[in-house]
Amino acid sequence: MTPFDILLRNLPENPKIWLITGVAGFIGSNLLETLLKLGQQVIGLDNFATGHRRNLDEVQRLVGEEQWQRFVFIEGDIRNLSVCQEACKGVDYVLHQAALGSVPRSIADPITTNDVNISGFLNMLVAARDAGVKSFTYAASSSTYGDHPGLPKVEDVIGKPLSPYAVTKYVNEMYADVFSRAYGFKAIGLRYFNVFGKRQDPSGAYAAVIPKWTAAMIGGDDVFINGDGETSRDFCFIDNTVQANLLAATSDITSTGNQVYNVAVGGRTDLNQLFSAIKDSLASNGINYTKTPVYRDFRAGDVRHSQADISKAARLLGYEPRVDINNGVSQAMPWYISFFMTTK
Ligand SMILES: NC(=O)c1ccc[n+]([C@@H]2O[C@H](COP(=O)([O-])OP(=O)(O)OC[C@H]3O[C@@H](n4cnc5c(N)ncnc54)[C@H](O)[C@@H]3O)[C@@H](O)[C@H]2O)c1
Repeated sequence: MTPFDILLRNLPENPKIWLITGVAGFIGSNLLETLLKLGQQVIGLDNFATGHRRNLDEVQRLVGEEQWQRFVFIEGDIRNLSVCQEACKGVDYVLHQAALGSVPRSIADPITTNDVNISGFLNMLVAARDAGVKSFTYAASSSTYGDHPGLPKVEDVIGKPLSPYAVTKYVNEMYADVFSRAYGFKAIGLRYFNVFGKRQDPSGAYAAVIPKWTAAMIGGDDVFINGDGETSRDFCFIDNTVQANLLAATSDITSTGNQVYNVAVGGRTDLNQLFSAIKDSLASNGINYTKTPVYRDFRAGDVRHSQADISKAARLLGYEPRVDINNGVSQAMPWYISFFMTTK
């Protein structure tokens, strides 16, 4: 049995109270679904800045009414300290996901990204500290590796940030570290690398590459590749990310301190390969995309290559990703197809 199997067996027998911020978003709603299915009590906080009520509705349908009764939703903004304090009351574990994602969004509007991702983060740290939570697990980011060219990325070696978004995620790690030292607080930063899966928003200017391309292919539209197609990423299926959160929050390797872990698969897929993977997966679902991709300029602030060394999370948390990119794309496709068929 792996550490995650043991956790999945033990959690339902010993339910805890979890706070998920950003619960109406992609990662937050997937955490919610898993925790409710495991019989946990969940408080969720979101202001619907980029998340959707439809994600909560879908989780409600998937878990059923009995499990849904164990969920309390607070509509509110992490930039408001008293909202964060209310949300943290009585909580065992915080999974802090709320933030404004997207490198280009932060380049277009650095002030709002800073307010939410840094001031909001600090509010959550203060509220969680004062509520005496057992642990504070937060969404960090691979963007913190910035311009450092080394591959695979190892937690201790980072470069200069390439975007305001990357600055905010790095400042989160610094604040968590200072809180852990100054107040004996337990924080765990999970540096996500390009997470994907069901409920990742396909719409809007700041959509991530997998939902954006999937939407374009289903609609028969052009797919744009920024650069030459050889830009690469360590794409991580959502179930692996959920696993890392649950292991991190409940880990007892330390009672205080701030630890940062890469969360990915340890693989590398370039954009040309990704294009083929999505196209093939749609074809196996009866949707044939016949256009070739349109290449355009590289995008400002993007790193060229990204691949994680996941040995620290494997060693200290027992993290073991179970789904690779191709399996993940196959698992996500039916959701996207049904999403577009029902919203057409
Ligand atoms: N998806 C990825 O590949 C990836 C990679 C690295 C890091 N991250 C981080 O993971 C976290 C979750 O990302 P996601 O992909 O689920 O994005 P998402 O946009 O789907 O979810 C973020 C959620 O936070 C909420 N939110 C935003 N501002 C808020 C505020 N002021 N108050 C309360 N709620 C607010 C949004 O409404 C949304 O529901 C973010 O912190 C993001 O920076 C994601």
